[in-house]
Order: sequence, then C-alpha cells, then structure tokens
Amino acid sequence: MKSIEYFLNKLICGDSLQVMRSMPSESIDLAITSPPYNLKNSTGNGMKDGRGGKWSNAALLNGYTNHHDCMPHNKYVSWQRDCLTEMLRLIKDDGAIFYNHKWRVQAGLLQDRQDIVQGFPVRQIIIWRRKGGINFNKGYFLPTYEVIYMITKPKFTLSKGANSHGDIWEFQQERDNAHPAPFPVALIERIISSTNAKIVLDPFMGSGTTAIAARNLERQFIGIDISPEYCEMAQDRITGKPYNQKLNTSLGKYEEA
Ligand SMILES: C[S@@+](CC[C@H](N)C(=O)[O-])C[C@H]1O[C@@H](n2cnc3c(N)ncnc32)[C@H](O)[C@@H]1O
Repeated sequence: MKSIEYFLNKLICGDSLQVMRSMPSESIDLAITSPPYNLKNSTGNGMKDGRGGKWSNAALLNGYTNHHDCMPHNKYVSWQRDCLTEMLRLIKDDGAIFYNHKWRVQAGLLQDRQDIVQGFPVRQIIIWRRKGGINFNKGYFLPTYEVIYMITKPKFTLSKGANSHGDIWEFQQERDNAHPAPFPVALIERIISSTNAKIVLDPFMGSGTTAIAARNLERQFIGIDISPEYCEMAQDRITGKPYNQKLNTSLGKYEEA
C-alpha cells in the first residue's frame, strides 16, 4: 500500500472505491463529498427517459460524462454505503465526513437517505438552503434545500467559533461552471474552516471545488473522479486556465460491471 504522501495534492482519475481502497487507514482528517444522486433512477419525473418533463431546466438532465446515474436503487444504496465505509476507515480518530445528498419524492412519497446513512455515526444534519429550486409539482412546496450529513469519529471537534454558524446554511448555487452539479466554493470553505483538518479528501470531486477551497485555506487535498473530462476541468480550474472543451454526456443504461 502506498503512503498517504503519494496521494497528496493530486487529482486522481479513477473509480473512487478502488482508489480509496488503495489508501492507508486513518490517514486523512476530513472527507467532503457530493456523490451522484442516482437521479435518472426515478419514478416518472422525466429525468429517467431524457424527456426533461418537470426537470427540463435541470443541468443534470444530460447526466455526467462517465456515469449514467441510473443504478437500481438497492445497488446504489449498497455502493454508497461501501463508499462511506471506506471514508470512515480513512479518517483519523478525530476526523469527519461531510456527505451531501438530496431527499426526493418517489412514487408520491418522500425518500430521505436514511437507507444510505443508517448505522454510520451521523452526529448532525446541516441544511444547505439554495436560492431557487425546481418547482416540480403543484402538490408540494418548492424544494429549496439539500442536506449535509456530518458523520464523525468520536474525537472530532469543530474549530473555535464555528458552532455559531448554526445548522442552516444559505449558499447560492454555483454559476459559470460547466460541470452539471458543482458545489459553491464558499460552501466548502465554510466546511473546511469549521474544522482543524490538514488533509481533505473528495472521492467524487467533479470540477475540483473541494481542492480549490482546500488550497484557498492552505490545506492539502486529494481529489478523485472517474471522468477524464472533469479531472481536466478540475486541473484547469486549479491552475487558472479557462475550460473550453465541449462535454460528451451521452451514456447508456446501467450495466453490471
Ligand atoms: C455531484 S458530482 C460532484 C461535483 C463536485 N462536488 C463539484 O463541485 O464539481 C458527482 C461526481 O461523481 C463522479 N463519479 C461518478 N461515479 C464515480 C466513481 N465510480 N468514481 C469516482 N467518481 C465518480 C462524477 O463524474 C461526478 O463528477
């Protein structure tokens, strides 16, 4: 197994589980991530078959370049639980995972993400209130928030004064980013600066927002993404180059590996 120094300040293009499994235990302080939400596996909102429907303005309609976002639900849950298991193995005994997800409605009923996080040491849920939202049904109030599960090892503490942020955070959605689902940089800076972490991992790094926020705060980062396009985009963002490439997002259906 390689030492953690090998991974530091690198954007690694590969499968997150495979890469995390090659990293040493208790070697990082903080994991921050937003996984694919499996949005194309959804009951009748138009995301599934590409018609758009109520989601016609959603950037994610075209999906990701190297991930179909349409796994059978039980497989998706088990994949995400495997990812959380790895993140938990990788953090030190005072480390934490900030795991962003979104609740949704399936077959008319709320689907929270309890099936993914059940049994993990969830200490708190932060509500990330975004401006706007997608008004998908007149029977529901406009959804405007996502959740960030704070999953911690027992010795984790916040940095001095950070608890005054409270547990509802308002950050506008990122604009001017070709990735279909980027974090706002300010949100990740809030998370990192609320901890004493020196090494920050994002196993679904996308356009590299976690790496950028870590650098802004003079922390070390490790970023993983399966898409060569997004890795290139992240590299360009970090080095300050404009990203011009047109993204190819045509992907097929879920297939068992
Ligand atoms: C919600 S996006 C993350 C966006 C990121 N937070 C940002 O600020 O740009 C999820 C990312 O997971 C990546 N992904 C999907 N399957 C993956 C896998 N098996 N291993 C690593 N990355 C994967 C996708 O390419 C996508 O960029």
